[in-house]
Amino acid sequence: MTEQTDVATDLADSTNDASLERTRRRSDEIEARIEKDPSGFRVLTGDRPTGNLHLGHYFGSLMNRVRLQRAGVETWVLVADYQVITDRDGVGPIRERVLSLVADYLAVGIDPDASTIFTHSAVPALNQLMLPFLSVVTDAELRRNPTVKSELEATGDRPMSGLMLTYPVHQSADILFCKANLVPVGKDQLPHLEQARVIARRFDERYGRAGDGSQPVFPRPEALLSDAASVLGTDGQKMSKSRGNTIELGMDADATAKALKRAVTDADRHITYDPVNRPEVSNLVLLTALASERDPHEVAEEIGDGGAATLKKAAIEAVNEMLAPVRARRAELTADPGYLLQVLRAGNDRANAVADATLGEVREAMQMVY
Ligand code: TRP
Repeated sequence: MTEQTDVATDLADSTNDASLERTRRRSDEIEARIEKDPSGFRVLTGDRPTGNLHLGHYFGSLMNRVRLQRAGVETWVLVADYQVITDRDGVGPIRERVLSLVADYLAVGIDPDASTIFTHSAVPALNQLMLPFLSVVTDAELRRNPTVKSELEATGDRPMSGLMLTYPVHQSADILFCKANLVPVGKDQLPHLEQARVIARRFDERYGRAGDGSQPVFPRPEALLSDAASVLGTDGQKMSKSRGNTIELGMDADATAKALKRAVTDADRHITYDPVNRPEVSNLVLLTALASERDPHEVAEEIGDGGAATLKKAAIEAVNEMLAPVRARRAELTADPGYLLQVLRAGNDRANAVADATLGEVREAMQMVY
C-alpha cells in the first residue's frame, strides 16, 4: 500500500460506523482508567480566539475539560491564535479576544495552576514542527481532509490560503509537541486526530527515534469521544457567533433573557422533549435541563401545557442562575488584564520548555544536531 492510499483509508475510516463504535468503546475504557489513575494521561484541547465563548462551548467542551482537570488529568489548553488567520484577512482585535478567552477559561473553572493555558504565537518550537510534519503528508491527502473540504465550502469562492490547507498539520503539531495522548473530540473532529496519529507514525517510520530508540518521539494520541448533548442556537440552528444565535458566557442576565425570549418555538402549546420532530422547543428544554442538572423529559413534563412562554421563563431562570457565578468571576477577571497576561505568560513558559525539549528529540532523530 502506498502512503497516500494508506491515509485515505485512515481518514475515511475514522468516521465510519464500525470505527466510531470502536472509538466509543475505547473512550469508555479510557474513562474507566482515568477514574482509577489519571496520572498517565495528558489532555490537549484548544479554541480559536475568534469571539466570546457561548453555551454551545460550555456544554459541548468546557464542562468536560473542567471535569477532566478535576479528576486529576494533566490538561493543556491552547489559545489557537495562528489558526485565526487561516481564513481571515487580518488578525482582528486579537489581543482583546485572547484575553477574553483566557477570562472565559478561568471563569468556568480551568485552574491555571493545574492546567497550562498557552498561545501558538508564543511557542516557536511548536511551530517549527510544521516543517518535518509537512514533509510526511501530501497535498492530495490534505485536500481530502473532511474539515479542510468543508471549510473550503463554507468560505465560498474565496481562494484558500496555504495555512488553511495545512492547518490539520499545524493542529497535529499542537497535539504532538507536548506529547498529549488524549484529545477530547466530537465525532466530526475525528479526522483531525487521525491526521495527528498518521503523522506520529510516519515521523517514526521516516526519521526514526531519539535517545536509546526504545520509544517513538511522538506517542499516538487517542480520541476521547464526547457524548455531550449539543445545544442549538436560539433559532434552532447550530449555535455560532456568525448566526447571531448565541448565549455568550459573558452576556448579562438581561441580554440573556432578551435572547431567549426571541428564541424560535412552534405552534404546539404542549411542551415535549422530542429533538427530532421539535428541535427548537426541545433545545430550550435541553438548555433548561442542562443548566439545572435535570432530565429533559422531566423538565418538559413539568411545563406540560404551560406553553412556550413558561418554557422560556424556565430556560431564562435556569441559565441565568447557572451562569451567575461564572459571570461574576468573569467580570472580576476582565477588570484585571494584568493578571490574565500573567497566567498566559506562565503557561507560555511551560509550553516553551516542553516544546524545546521535544524539538531537541526531533533534531536528534533527524540527525540535525550541530
Ligand atoms: N480547531 C479548534 C477549533 O476551531 C481549535 C484547535 C486548534 C484545537 N488546535 C487544536 C483543538 C488542537 C484540539 C486540538 O476550535
